[in-house]
Order: sequence, then C-alpha cells, then structure tokens
Amino acid sequence: MTKKVAVLPGDGVGTEVTKGAVAVLKAIGERFDHQFEFTYGLIGGAAIDEAGTPLPESTIETCKQADAVLLGSVGGPKWDRNPSHLRPEKGLLAIRKELDLYANLRPVTFYDSLADASPLKKEYIEGVDFIIVRELTGGLYFGKPSERRTEGNEETVVDTLFYKRTEIERIIRQAFDTAVNRRKKVTSVDKANVLESSRVWREVAEEVAKDYPDVELEHMLVDSAAMQLIRNPKYFDVVVTENMFGDILSDEASMLTGSLGMLPSASLTADGPSLYEPVHGSAPDIAGQNKANPIAAILSAAMLLRHSFGLEKEAAVIEQAVESVLHAGHRTADLADGNHYLGTDKMVEAITAVIANDSAISSIMTAYS
Ligand code: IPM
Ligand code: MN
Repeated sequence: MTKKVAVLPGDGVGTEVTKGAVAVLKAIGERFDHQFEFTYGLIGGAAIDEAGTPLPESTIETCKQADAVLLGSVGGPKWDRNPSHLRPEKGLLAIRKELDLYANLRPVTFYDSLADASPLKKEYIEGVDFIIVRELTGGLYFGKPSERRTEGNEETVVDTLFYKRTEIERIIRQAFDTAVNRRKKVTSVDKANVLESSRVWREVAEEVAKDYPDVELEHMLVDSAAMQLIRNPKYFDVVVTENMFGDILSDEASMLTGSLGMLPSASLTADGPSLYEPVHGSAPDIAGQNKANPIAAILSAAMLLRHSFGLEKEAAVIEQAVESVLHAGHRTADLADGNHYLGTDKMVEAITAVIANDSAISSIMTAYS
C-alpha cells in the first residue's frame, strides 16, 4: 500500500511526539511492506512565527493532498497574549473546519500495567473501556457572534452555542454506528434542563435511535456525567456530546488511564482526509526536554491506520506493542513513580523494537492470519 500522510507537528511537545509517531509508522511500513510518504506543514505558534498566520494556505493544501493527517499540538505562553485571530488554537480550529472533521473519537482504555498510575482505585478503573464521540466543528467553539462589546458603560461579552439539526444528527449517527460494534449502549450527554440546544440534541438522539433498535440510548446531564465518570466509569460504552462538553469530559476521562499522555484521538470527516492527534496539548512546561509521553500520538497513528487506511492488523500491532512495552515496566515521566523513567525517544525506540520483532507481536499475527 502506498499512502501520503501530512504531518503537522505544531508547538511544544507536539514536535517531539509526532516524530515518535512517524517513527512508528515507518517501522510498520517496513514490517508490512507499505510505503508511507510524509509531507510536513506548519500550524499553530510555529506557523505564526514563520508565516504570520496560525494556518497558512500551504498547510491546508498539504493536508488536502494527503490521505490522512497526523497532528501534534498547538499553543504556548509565547502566543498567549496575541489577539484572537493570531492565537495558535485558531489554527487547530480552522483546520478542523476546513477539513470538516466533525467527529472526534476519543477512546478511553484501561491498561492493566498502568493500574497504579491512575489516582483512582484499581477496582474502579479495571476494565474501563469506553469511547467519547465529541462533536468537533460546531457548538460554542464556532458560533457567531463571539466578541466583546460595550453596552452603555459596561463591557459585555458574548459567545454563541449554535447547531444546525443536520450537524447534531450526523454526530449522533456516528455514535450509534460506533456502538453497533461495541456493547451497544449510547449515553448522550447534554444540559437539557437548561439549554435549548440540548433539548433539540435530545430530540434528534431519540429520532436517530429508532434506526438502531439493537442499541440502547440514554440521556445524561453533563454535570451528572462528570460525576459518573469517576464514580462508575465502567458503566459507559459510547458517550456522545457537544464540542465543549466533550473537550472537558475527555480530559477528565484521561485520568482513568493514568495520564493524559495516553489518550489518542481521531477526527473524522465524511469525505477527504481525516486527522489524528493526541488529546493532550503542547505541555510547554516540559517541551524540548525529551520528557513527553509519545504514546497518545503513537496510538493516534494506530487509529489513522485503522480508520483511514483500513489497516486493522497493523493498528492492532501498534496497540499490542504499546501494551507489551508498558507490561515490561517501561514508563515515561508522567506515568512513573519516582525518578526512574524513559525519555520520549527511548520510549519510541522500545515500541518500534517490538514492532520489528516477530515474537512479541506473534499473537496478533496469528489472530489475523
Ligand atoms: C483539544 C484541545 C483543543 C480543543 C484546543 C487546543 C483548542 O484542548 O483538542 O481537546 O479545545 O479542542
Ligand atoms: Mn481539550
């Protein structure tokens, strides 16, 4: 298979972890005889510094000409005081809109060997396995107006939560399609006791549910969902929610796995290249120190192989390699107890070594042969 992957490293640890993800894709390419061609583009603060805008046209072109996009992260203190159109985050929001990446899948998976890394007790998190389906191109993030105003002598400010019914419908459908291949339970999270947008969201969820008689639908208020995620995380299978709620709940959910550094994501479109990125941000406090956990980016590369290239076995091999490396006791700083941990590059080497080695992944190879 020959495929083009656009790589947008972005800022902070984004550059370090995407390097790791590319190394893993190369190892998969060699092991399974695929040609992956990598093209690079600027985004975020790096793009502001070099091109004067957080998302240059050339980056959009690079993405559109690729079969999939791998992204690191954007942002950093250097640009925090910039006006809103010159903020790194604008670049990320713009590429999501530009490629119509409306469906953000954020799987939350428990790893046995990381049970002690989570701040929660093992009995609560053991066996946790759910996926957050976050709407990614609408809601509060994109609604207009979004601006400061003066009313009388008062400074006022407005952000807008806007959705078209069709936008709600397609993300709910994505959740049901996801649930069909899982435990067949969709929890739709909203704030219907307060927000009109949430009441429409519920109506649409009920309508879509009629097309999926085998899938159970329930509604949960977002405040209650935030509580249940900690109280009984095993309860969830597929969680579908609005853009902002999904942003917040997914960071919360990451701690069930031990670290935000473990959570991958896929941002899917109906047509064209999809994009894959770790859920974590640019982590300026540890950037440039070879200290970041590359696993979220590496697992995002696995999602890329699965969702964009249909390479299920290769994706499973990456996931298995991550699991064996953790099982062998390797940890990055975020997961380690004390000062004994691997740098980003050593963790990547450990994972690529497993991918290159027959015996460590033999169970996967047998399962797919
Ligand atoms: C994420 C990030 C982004 C978001 C930021 C960087 C704009 O937090 O992908 O979760 O809020 O969507
Ligand atoms: Mn976030």
